[in-house]
Amino acid sequence: MSLFVWKPDYSVNNAVLDGHHQQLFSLVNSVYENVMNSQALDCALTKIDELTEYTKYHFLAEERYMREKGFSGIDEHIAKHREFTHTIETLRESYHGNDLEAARDLIVALGEWLLQHVLKDDRTYSA
Ligand SMILES: [Fe+2]
Ligand SMILES: [Fe+2]
Repeated sequence: MSLFVWKPDYSVNNAVLDGHHQQLFSLVNSVYENVMNSQALDCALTKIDELTEYTKYHFLAEERYMREKGFSGIDEHIAKHREFTHTIETLRESYHGNDLEAARDLIVALGEWLLQHVLKDDRTYSA
């Protein structure tokens, strides 16, 4: 079951960043499946680490793009990115500490956050 799937409606009118968002949705989904099915620690943590790395990569690219465009809401936007990164760290700690209930809540929250962020916040720089 794929809970978090990117759709063309979510486009920010930039093919590269749209591609990043697709990949992020797919990684969130794969972490979700691992965490929900309580996969072995190694397997789930590898996915969580992949999500962490890709998130960093995407946020840097997006922040660079906003800077190039002279987007005025950049500081606020970067603060939101930090929040997301921090939540992934908390999720990793929860899963590592075997607090599966917290980990499940966190991955659902991350998926919802990502969807809202792409639909609302990321769209503000694409206009
Ligand atoms: Fe963003
Ligand atoms: Fe984004």
